[in-house]
Amino acid sequence: MKTLHVDLDERSYPIHIGPGLLGRPELIRPHIHGRQVMVVSNETVAPLYLEQVRQALEDFEQQAVILPDGEEYKNLETLNTIFDALLERRFNRRCTLVALGGGVVGDIAGFAAACYQRGVDFIQIPTTLLAQVDSSVGGKTGVNHPLGKNMIGAFHQPNCVLADTDTLNTLDDRQLAAGIAEVIKYGLIRDAGFFEWLEKNMTRLNARDPEALVFAIERSCRNKAEVVAEDEREAGSRALLNLGHTFGHAIETGTGYGVWLHGEAVAVGMLLAARLSALQGWLDEADVARIEALLLAAHLPVKAPGEMDADRFLELMAVDKKVLDGGLRLVLLRGIGRAVVTSEFDAGLLRRVLEEAAG
Ligand SMILES: NC(=O)c1ccc[n+]([C@@H]2O[C@H](COP(=O)([O-])OP(=O)(O)OC[C@H]3O[C@@H](n4cnc5c(N)ncnc54)[C@H](O)[C@@H]3O)[C@@H](O)[C@H]2O)c1
Ligand SMILES: [Zn+2]
Repeated sequence: MKTLHVDLDERSYPIHIGPGLLGRPELIRPHIHGRQVMVVSNETVAPLYLEQVRQALEDFEQQAVILPDGEEYKNLETLNTIFDALLERRFNRRCTLVALGGGVVGDIAGFAAACYQRGVDFIQIPTTLLAQVDSSVGGKTGVNHPLGKNMIGAFHQPNCVLADTDTLNTLDDRQLAAGIAEVIKYGLIRDAGFFEWLEKNMTRLNARDPEALVFAIERSCRNKAEVVAEDEREAGSRALLNLGHTFGHAIETGTGYGVWLHGEAVAVGMLLAARLSALQGWLDEADVARIEALLLAAHLPVKAPGEMDADRFLELMAVDKKVLDGGLRLVLLRGIGRAVVTSEFDAGLLRRVLEEAAG
């Protein structure tokens, strides 16, 4: 097991990473201060892991809320069912919410914890690779609104994160690959050594080798935690974490939510950002080839969907949240491991990259 301590202004909390952690109650118990624990999970994850978590929490007065599975349920109505459960069972201000599931469960449960009685304790047990390397670090919580994704939310840090790599064994291959896209992202934005490690170890990750997973998750969380610590409320450098995301969001919206997984769209987006960087003369063509090869090795897509032409891309990219004061800002690469946020790129070159995106 590896433990990473995330240091943020208000407090520091541990992220424990390793196999078999659900069977180690001593890792969670010290972070529960009252008697009451509410486990929030969903109908897919609960049958797999709720019993183990319940056993780890047997000393406490515990309840569970099981949410329907899917991004479409990440809304205020579902959030309210958590408040109903907490109030019906008379949970007090010293209660703890435990999120057991992927990023959707983590985001809703974390937001419930941020709001209930103006904020209660919260523990994350992320069970997707994406949740283990991304959504469980940084304290962003929230739900979607019909007019925008993640538009209603709060910053609320967990007391502890337990990333049990054994839970990834039941995840399907596509979801695993989607998580790996975010892992590759950390190498590209600020950790060239990690990128090289990924080039050598991708087969081990695909095979869910526990040791390789622990290494990659710890390194990813450390990178994210460092970026977040520099810029907790996203005033500037945190935007680097959006490498590939402006292109990726356009693909997600353009194809209709749920057709492409977020990580798959980000994979193509990162490659498009790399191609534009190369045309700008900032990145070697050889590095673009390395990035494409690594995405392919991770079984991720490298071509945009055929139905997306350059105009459609540009139209959808223009509504992305990084458009500040009229100018489109993108995260581009000055090398592998050196990302920059910039509006100083050639619009003609961007169009060319998008025209060739579907290959
Ligand atoms: N808060 C943040 O900083 C942050 C960052 C990135 C993403 N997110 C959010 O995270 C969400 C995406 O998270 P996700 O990719 O984990 O999706 P998800 O939570 O929908 O999980 C993907 C699927 O895998 C299933 N699942 C989860 N764990 C499993 C397991 N161990 N075995 C088998 N099936 C399992 C889920 O039930 C679901 O069907 C989005 O809503 C996104 O907005 C938040
Ligand atoms: Zn992402």
